[in-house]
Amino acid sequence: MNYTGPKIVTSLPGPKAQGVIERDLAMLSPSLTRTAPLVGVRAEGVYVEDIDGNVFLDFGSGIGVTGVGHRHPKVIEAVKKQLDALVFVNSLDYYTLPQVELAEMLFKVTPGDFPKRVFYSNSGSESIDTAIKMAKWHSRRAYGVGFINGFHGRTMGATSFTTTNLAARRGFSPLYPIAQFTPYPYCYRCLFNRTYPGCDMECMNYLTDVVFKKIIAPDETAFILFEPVQGAGGYIVPPKEFFTILSDLAKKHGILMIADEVQTGYGRTGKMFACEHFGFEPDIITMSKAFANGFPAAATVARREVMDWDDNAHEGTLNGGPVIMEAAKAVLRVIDEEKILENVRIQGEYLRAQLDELQKRYSIIGDIRGMGLMIGIELVKDEKKTPAGKQRDELIQAAFSRGLLLMAAGASSLRLIPPMIINREQIDTGLAIMEDCLKELH
Ligand SMILES: Cc1ncc(COP(=O)(O)O)c(C=O)c1O
Repeated sequence: MNYTGPKIVTSLPGPKAQGVIERDLAMLSPSLTRTAPLVGVRAEGVYVEDIDGNVFLDFGSGIGVTGVGHRHPKVIEAVKKQLDALVFVNSLDYYTLPQVELAEMLFKVTPGDFPKRVFYSNSGSESIDTAIKMAKWHSRRAYGVGFINGFHGRTMGATSFTTTNLAARRGFSPLYPIAQFTPYPYCYRCLFNRTYPGCDMECMNYLTDVVFKKIIAPDETAFILFEPVQGAGGYIVPPKEFFTILSDLAKKHGILMIADEVQTGYGRTGKMFACEHFGFEPDIITMSKAFANGFPAAATVARREVMDWDDNAHEGTLNGGPVIMEAAKAVLRVIDEEKILENVRIQGEYLRAQLDELQKRYSIIGDIRGMGLMIGIELVKDEKKTPAGKQRDELIQAAFSRGLLLMAAGASSLRLIPPMIINREQIDTGLAIMEDCLKELH
């Protein structure tokens, strides 16, 4: 495989893909939201090949999972080596070296120069449920606060704090009753019709003056769960004051801060974790997606004194298997050795500047926001900012037919989250396709 660019050789979906899709639709869960009719069979770097030989430039990396690029050779090599030695020993009953080595590496790169502990699991949702249970266990307090438009996953604990749309919640009630919600600073569509700066962070005043004065007592609140940049909700970056207010609440009321860095973590924003941009040190931090570059893995890292639960309070049979741990160790080595954070900053700035130019030419682009290589483009129909959800979906399909994988977020946003190894030429290729599609939409 030596891909040099996107290449479409059949109608889409091609004949083989069409066959697989028909069989899939008859048997797999109808709850899966498919963005495009891609049946992947091979991938490398920033490219994915489908079953009919079409090659796509990947601006989504499976929602940020293949962070250091599809099948990074060093990750694959580490996995192969481990496969030849030991695939599984139940690490709930016994011990393995890779778990310990990864913990040592993780503590160096997670925010906060304090003693920590880690709990490994298999998905972002599990890392969230771990965090919720741990915060409850440690504090013995009743409530947790989440943010409107937040996405934390699909297990019952994570679903209870997910408010991106009703489809994620309808039919499952009553959800975990500890959850209370408050607005996230979504400045482009401020719920209070204010403009930042100069708005006094009215959205956060709602938390302090309404939620904590009329609904739940702060000293009965175990945790606040937040995304440092809202992901599925639309790539929404809060102002720095958001973090100052959270820090104050933590200090004043002893509320534990859980940063969900499942999507923002692992270099995506130009720092290992997005909280670092704001000098914020969460008590508990969750990570998954890019953690093992495609192998199912997650971790919840907490201050040592917070992860103080009893023997048998929380475990999982498959957690922290040695193959996955070796993949995760290799990812951290690659990020360091290949200066991935620097590339994210350089390419992120370049991509952002090019998008700003594109916005001048296409009025459908209402807002561009993000950090590093995590950039959201919100599409609007008019000056009243009417969400252009249908046009966004059409644009994704038009890009797909030209060999570019794009993903949606929120009601009418695109999320650009390419592998962090992407170079300028590949960005230009993707942008040229996007512009073609925008012209067609116009
Ligand atoms: C911020 C955030 N938290 C949690 C999750 C859930 O992760 P998973 O799908 O691996 O369970 C996601 C997934 O998109 C996410 O973006």
